[in-house]
Amino acid sequence: MSLLFSPLKIKDVEIKNRIMMSPMCQYSAKDGHAKDWHFVHYGTRAVGGAGLIMFEATAVLPKGRITYGDLGLWTEEHAQRLKHITNFIKSQGSVAGIQLAHAGRKASLQLPKDGDGPLRDAEGAWEIVAPSAIPFGNNYQVPTALSICDIHSIEESFANAAQKAFVAGFEVVEIHAAHGYLINEFMSPATNKRTDDYGGSFENRIRFLLEIIDHIKFVWPDNLPIFVRISATDYVDGSWDINQSIMLAKELKKKGIDVIDVSSGGLVPDAKIQYDFGYQLAFAERIHKETGIMTATVGMNTTAEQGEMILRDDMSDIVVYGRELLRDPYFALNAAKVVHDDIEWPVQYIRAKNK
Ligand SMILES: Cc1cc2nc3c(=O)[nH]c(=O)nc-3n(C[C@H](O)[C@H](O)[C@H](O)COP(=O)(O)O)c2cc1C
Repeated sequence: MSLLFSPLKIKDVEIKNRIMMSPMCQYSAKDGHAKDWHFVHYGTRAVGGAGLIMFEATAVLPKGRITYGDLGLWTEEHAQRLKHITNFIKSQGSVAGIQLAHAGRKASLQLPKDGDGPLRDAEGAWEIVAPSAIPFGNNYQVPTALSICDIHSIEESFANAAQKAFVAGFEVVEIHAAHGYLINEFMSPATNKRTDDYGGSFENRIRFLLEIIDHIKFVWPDNLPIFVRISATDYVDGSWDINQSIMLAKELKKKGIDVIDVSSGGLVPDAKIQYDFGYQLAFAERIHKETGIMTATVGMNTTAEQGEMILRDDMSDIVVYGRELLRDPYFALNAAKVVHDDIEWPVQYIRAKNK
């Protein structure tokens, strides 16, 4: 059997292969609610054989959405609509995960199709929050620095969403601590200028994330995995970097986090990043090898052979495919052929399996 199609058991969840669909915003929700689009989009990737399907960044509060089109999970009704989708994903033998997020100073943006910039008042802009009152870029709204009381309230919102994620049938939650959104903004010296318990030292900057984890663990079953997606570096001199990511990984391991999903960037608009296969792989490998925690590696993974090589060289435990799965929802079914594995196909498609 190939490594890419070997199962992975994390706590009580068995994932049938190492292919994870990366969380990718669909900008197609209404008031945070999933629509037919989400059912077809996620359902098709389950039919296509991906082992773990990570739903897009899902806001824990209305004001934590990046755009009006983001998924949200702050009411029972949000959970009920998602349950319909997770039931179908399970019926196909895949595992459904959900990325819980708060967009911080990168909230209140236009849909990408409308320009991706900050929403103007006439377009329904809402007040945004961050650790410090520093805007993302020129022309972006200046966020309000969060009070301690508001920090605690957002932490509780993550737990509220995690509890609803369980009701909605998700078996993995991923905390979105990457890409310059709220948690990442606390971690990074470039965006966190606080002088209280949540700013300054490394311990203070990661406190918000660690407290969110504690809150989530109150409501999320012990036998189900928790992932954290991080940006291994901000690509900003003197800010968050791979060494701090490794220090963080050690803390997360102590907290019982199962997998670190290793991405990078997103904190500042002008970071210089060379986008090639493997551009984030060395970060995942170092975190995995230097701390022993499981990692998922993402970024320009497009082929089965790459996945096989990553696993063979023990650079990561899970291979995450993003845009490749947008181009080809049946990527996993086809990848199995490439690595000469005979996997089960949906019965409806058996006649297409071999020619
Ligand atoms: C349309 C789109 C939406 C995305 N939304 C999210 C998201 O919700 N959460 C997240 O962590 N990353 C998001 N990303 C980043 C991807 O998850 C992934 O890390 C990135 O595309 C690199 O992987 P790839 O080269 O395999 O696509 C998004 C990327 C795309 C293309």
